[in-house]
Amino acid sequence: MPSQFSTLTLSCIGAGRLGKTLCHLFSKHLQIGQIINRNQVSAQLAVDFIGSGQAYTGYSDLKPADLWLIATPDNSIQQTSKALKNSGVLRNGDIVFHCSGSLGADSLALDNCPTASVHPIHSFANPQNSLTHFAGTACGIEGQPEAVEVLKPLFANIGAAPFAIASEHKSLYHAATVMTCNYLVSLMALGEQMLAASGVDSAVGNHSPLEPLIRQTLDNYLSTDAVSALTGPIARGDSATIEAHLQALQGQPELWQKVYCALGNATIELSAQQGQASADSLASISTLLNLDNR
Ligand SMILES: NC(=O)c1ccc[n+]([C@@H]2O[C@H](COP(=O)([O-])OP(=O)(O)OC[C@H]3O[C@@H](n4cnc5c(N)ncnc54)[C@H](OP(=O)(O)O)[C@@H]3O)[C@@H](O)[C@H]2O)c1
Repeated sequence: MPSQFSTLTLSCIGAGRLGKTLCHLFSKHLQIGQIINRNQVSAQLAVDFIGSGQAYTGYSDLKPADLWLIATPDNSIQQTSKALKNSGVLRNGDIVFHCSGSLGADSLALDNCPTASVHPIHSFANPQNSLTHFAGTACGIEGQPEAVEVLKPLFANIGAAPFAIASEHKSLYHAATVMTCNYLVSLMALGEQMLAASGVDSAVGNHSPLEPLIRQTLDNYLSTDAVSALTGPIARGDSATIEAHLQALQGQPELWQKVYCALGNATIELSAQQGQASADSLASISTLLNLDNR
């Protein structure tokens, strides 16, 4: 274990999708101590995945560790930190951190231990895949300097790209990641539903007919920028097509129309920056997309 952290031990409370993935990656650089879940079977499965550590439940007879990762769901992080504190295992200077995107380090509420939050902008939906795809993940980090100065290089050692986030901006920062990741999935699912309502089979040969379009759009966006990647009727100032879409959406689920209009308004702003459509045509489209006018 040729690492500056090799003498340190990390224990994890809540080894689910994120916890077990990070512990597996950390295990190449430091010692993994106890893996504590509420359920012994899930704790043992996490240990098997990590390849080291001791499965445990409860807070009696915990063993000391230099680093504590609390990776329970967000709504139990505070209560978990309190239980860890009350267990009496924490020594002055042990580092305690969580990985929530929306909570700050102060939610851990520990007086004698430096605390931090490190939020990987990564979806751990499939832990096995995450092991190979984690490298390059940006991680928003904030907290007490004594914790940040250890966690920043530790995360860098597993391939992350840590960056500082101000604790007072964490909720807005997290809303941005949720909109980009989770809502993108919802948007694509709505697109599939609209396609199905138009009579198109949504799985031609096991692939959605939207798949090449989704991939091209993401490639264009990621290799250029929003203004360069934008195409379509709003970018062209084609109000007649937008009007036809809105007529077609009448009688369909109200949510489809609301999402279409809200994102259409965001698209008008990008189109104005792009400059292909005239200001008049964008103003007409804006009137069409205003649900109060309908
Ligand atoms: N998943 C992601 O993509 C992702 C991305 C970035 C950040 N995060 C953050 O990572 C943290 C964990 O999320 P996750 O998706 O990994 O959650 P998860 O898959 O639901 O795992 C949570 C784990 O915590 C255990 N647990 C729940 N309550 C507990 C308690 N009171 N005491 C001890 N163990 C408990 C559960 O096992 P038992 O039921 O056996 O107790 C489970 O193994 C959250 O703060 C989340 O915001 C997640």
